[in-house]
Amino acid sequence: MTDPASERRRMAAVLVDRGVLKSPRLRAAVESVPREQFLRPGVFLDEGRTWRPVTAAGTDPDEWLRIAYSVDSLTTQLDGRLTAGQVGVSVVGVPTSSSTDPATVVDMIEALDLAAGHRVLEVGTGTGYSTALMCHYLGEDNVTTVEVDPQVAARADAALEAAGFSTWTVTGDGLLGHPYRAPYDRVIATCAVRRIPYVWIRQTKPGGIVLGTVGSWPWGTGLAKLVVGDDGTADGVIVGRSPFMQARAQAMAPVAGDLSARAAYADSERRTRVSPLVLEKWMPAFLTQLAVPGTQFVRATRGDGSPLRYLFDPEKESFAEFLADGESWTVRQGGPVALWDDVERSLVAWQDAGAPEIDSVRLRVTPASHSYWIDHAPSLRWEHRIA
Ligand SMILES: C[S@@+](CC[C@H](N)C(=O)[O-])C[C@H]1O[C@@H](n2cnc3c(N)ncnc32)[C@H](O)[C@@H]1O
Repeated sequence: MTDPASERRRMAAVLVDRGVLKSPRLRAAVESVPREQFLRPGVFLDEGRTWRPVTAAGTDPDEWLRIAYSVDSLTTQLDGRLTAGQVGVSVVGVPTSSSTDPATVVDMIEALDLAAGHRVLEVGTGTGYSTALMCHYLGEDNVTTVEVDPQVAARADAALEAAGFSTWTVTGDGLLGHPYRAPYDRVIATCAVRRIPYVWIRQTKPGGIVLGTVGSWPWGTGLAKLVVGDDGTADGVIVGRSPFMQARAQAMAPVAGDLSARAAYADSERRTRVSPLVLEKWMPAFLTQLAVPGTQFVRATRGDGSPLRYLFDPEKESFAEFLADGESWTVRQGGPVALWDDVERSLVAWQDAGAPEIDSVRLRVTPASHSYWIDHAPSLRWEHRIA
């Protein structure tokens, strides 16, 4: 019979080997917090098109521990309601809550540069596993965690209590932070946001750190690490790629319906200088979201099987439709904003600058705007004003 404590030690050793787990205090937390208790009633394992429910009760205990300490993200809720305990067979659905893979969790907690006495706000409690690690590290009174889904919050709270942590589990919209326990030394978000909400900065002490994933596509998102200044602004960098599920209120409904009808009337048509297929890569996708925030990328095929790609900006009522012609592409653009002109300008400037990686992107947040730029590339600068 597998011993959970030895599984925890094994997982900690894997995280040390991968270079993500560095601090002895966090290692002690990883070796102590029982991840399997945060996965009840169960998880959904990815089968490609469907999700297979696996519950603690219905699984061999050794197998259950193997899953719990597998260093994978484990989906715990689909479509904002379904748990593995409610279904007996594989189902389709969209993940809406999970236990993030421990390597990402640990890497993010390390990036917070925690010290004894720090007070942390976590946005996106999920299972409560990452909350428990921080409670173990800092003490339960120093951790406040906000979860938007009441059922998820209740399960996390129960799991935290069972593991011995009576922390502040708040049900609410973490995009508003949690002013009642502010100011914090650190804010960490484990869901992606279109932009870092200014209240997170307002609720953080000068010198404090705000860490969260920015972007609204399932890929092409970046982990922003900001240091809050004395004047209420924050400066930082995108420290790396970071895939996270979108904050609920900001999740975009997929563009549906007859796409060709939506793109029926174009204002212009031309050959592209850059293939739209680059938008399927991480850094070009990130740049696209900086150049035209709020835009969605859609893949489709024509009746003859040839590829079609789209950019849609529902708010600006604009589109770009891409039609393949052998190796080259034609773009048809419509609406008040020529989306592809803006994106292509950024992509060409980025290629001319030597195609720097995502960690070259800097950002500054003020109450009125979010600015992103890449040093030594003056044309790679984007200013998003808050209306
Ligand atoms: C990836 S999971 C969190 C993983 C968690 N930290 C863990 O280790 O188990 C993201 C969570 O963010 C929650 N969430 C989404 N939007 C939110 C919001 N606006 N405020 C608070 N929580 C939110 C989701 O319901 C989901 O439970």
